[in-house]
Amino acid sequence: MRNIALVTGASSGMGKEFVREISKKYKGLDEIWVVARRRERLRELKKEIIGTRVRILPLDLMKEESFERLKMVLAKEQPVVRILVNASGYGISGSFEHQTEEDAAGMIHLNCEALTRITYLVLPYLRRGSFIYQMASSAGFAPQPNFTVYAATKAYVKSFSIALRQELSYQGIRVIAVCPGPVKTEFFDRAYEQEEVKFYKKFVMAAPKKVVRKAIRDARKNKAVSVYGMTMKVIRVICKLLPGRWIAKIMGK
Ligand SMILES: NC(=O)c1ccc[n+]([C@@H]2O[C@H](COP(=O)([O-])OP(=O)(O)OC[C@H]3O[C@@H](n4cnc5c(N)ncnc54)[C@H](OP(=O)(O)O)[C@@H]3O)[C@@H](O)[C@H]2O)c1
Repeated sequence: MRNIALVTGASSGMGKEFVREISKKYKGLDEIWVVARRRERLRELKKEIIGTRVRILPLDLMKEESFERLKMVLAKEQPVVRILVNASGYGISGSFEHQTEEDAAGMIHLNCEALTRITYLVLPYLRRGSFIYQMASSAGFAPQPNFTVYAATKAYVKSFSIALRQELSYQGIRVIAVCPGPVKTEFFDRAYEQEEVKFYKKFVMAAPKKVVRKAIRDARKNKAVSVYGMTMKVIRVICKLLPGRWIAKIMGK
């Protein structure tokens, strides 16, 4: 029986860091399966990883056939999935009315639907001691004007993860919602194509490696949510104390 990790969004940013860290920190893995659209990027990552075999699955998680393909590969290989990382995702900032319909729906499609479907497909292959890392965001702590749909998708991921964690706890499977603030990745190239990145976001921007290392430490401590950095921890407390409509008002100014 082959022990594997499956990482989506592995071609850049935090997904890629997860692959690097998993290869060093989780012993006894036979393979890491990496999913994203950019095959070349996944090939480069494969060359970089020493000691654990990397299997490339170039899939577009916005396309129906990708789920069929993954389902088939899992059924054929019958692996034990020790780690699932759902890191594929994107955000587009700016007002809802100026967003394209495609982007607004696309964020829900990739950040929520694809993440849920991947989790569902992988579930039968998880065992006692397996981990699920769901990339949520501090954007999911409260409603966020001008990041309206993205923040709502991340609120979904956080809620989904915490509830699923409870359901799976009886089987000894750990689920953690990773909720960082701004992280220095390609995410920002797409999210802020149309406008400048807000100065306070640049100020608290974290390194992806640090966020991922913290998430792995927190998962081992069996935490439900991983938040990197003091600023984001304070923001989380504020978001718990104040009504969402107040936060939205402050953020909207
Ligand atoms: N950066 C931040 O500030 C931040 C903060 C909190 C949470 N997050 C969340 O963390 C996760 C990772 O983001 P990141 O910052 O690492 O961003 P990133 O560097 O842009 O990585 C996003 C990943 O998603 C993949 N992806 C995009 N569209 C896809 C599709 N249709 N099918 C399959 N894969 C797709 C990309 O690969 P391909 O383009 O090759 O397909 C890439 O590997 C996302 O869910 C993001 O919302 C980011």
